[in-house]
Amino acid sequence: MFQHFISASQFTSATTLEEFFVAVRKTETSSPSGVACGKVMASWFGEASTRTRVSFESAMYRLGGNVIYQPHMASSLAKGESWLDTIKTLGELSDIIVARTPIEGDAANAAVVSKVPFVNAGDGAGEHPTQALLDMYTIWKEFKCIEPLSIGLVGDLKYGRTIHSLLRLLGLYSRVTYHVLCPDRLYLDPREILKRSDIQIRRHACMDDLVKTGPMVVYMTRNQVERREEQTGMIYLPRYHYMRREHADKLPDDSIIMHPFPRGPELTPEIDSSPKAAYWKQVKNGLYVRMTLLQQLLSQEVQN
Ligand code: NCD
Repeated sequence: MFQHFISASQFTSATTLEEFFVAVRKTETSSPSGVACGKVMASWFGEASTRTRVSFESAMYRLGGNVIYQPHMASSLAKGESWLDTIKTLGELSDIIVARTPIEGDAANAAVVSKVPFVNAGDGAGEHPTQALLDMYTIWKEFKCIEPLSIGLVGDLKYGRTIHSLLRLLGLYSRVTYHVLCPDRLYLDPREILKRSDIQIRRHACMDDLVKTGPMVVYMTRNQVERREEQTGMIYLPRYHYMRREHADKLPDDSIIMHPFPRGPELTPEIDSSPKAAYWKQVKNGLYVRMTLLQQLLSQEVQN
């Protein structure tokens, strides 16, 4: 395992990724190890969060540990303290730090100074590596393997950190076909992240066209309105990019619809009753993924 978990690209092979999934499956099916007994997790969130924070905290408690939650505005950052001093302080007082920040690159900087394992729970428009782990684990569990895979990526590719991390893990596999549905101004060429030239990417104009290709997975994301640069202004996802119940019904029977949540109008709650809706399973899988990650990080010594 790594000392810190900052980027999905720390997984450098499909084999290590799937070894991790086997460990997650074990966590899911056996009683918790108590490895965190007597240990404290500092949970520092500088941006809103429901699933990520609660699942990390729930994971720590289930492993027998304790949690100190520190919201941004209650920390001395609000008095002008630096990010690095904040991390150094948390490192003196806890055994592991889980943090979300609005600034891309904060996580990597924190790892340089952190005395204890540091986990990136989202750094601005950068990455969200534990979300990608739970997304991939969900695909692996549903299909019993990752490839061959055809996946639709819908929404905000440019600012969506969950997609940035997901692509890094998908890039470990060669037999993946990408179908992208995204407004031009929110587009990011997956090749920029995947760093491989042998991938097939097809862009589509509307959800109807995407659904016709019969993808096995449709990964929806919301418009990251909070990350607009000044010059970009407000860009809306057009309605013809939304997933409606009739689209879900037309997808192949064994396909799945995913979303990291929170959802916006792009994913109607009418789909929740469809057997293809996998987003509540993602939430539950996130708990097991985070339990496994915390266990692995807590069972080793950090050297810096
Ligand atoms: C995502 C995030 O914060 O990046 N949510 C999450 O952690 N599950 C996605 C989002 O905010 O759109």
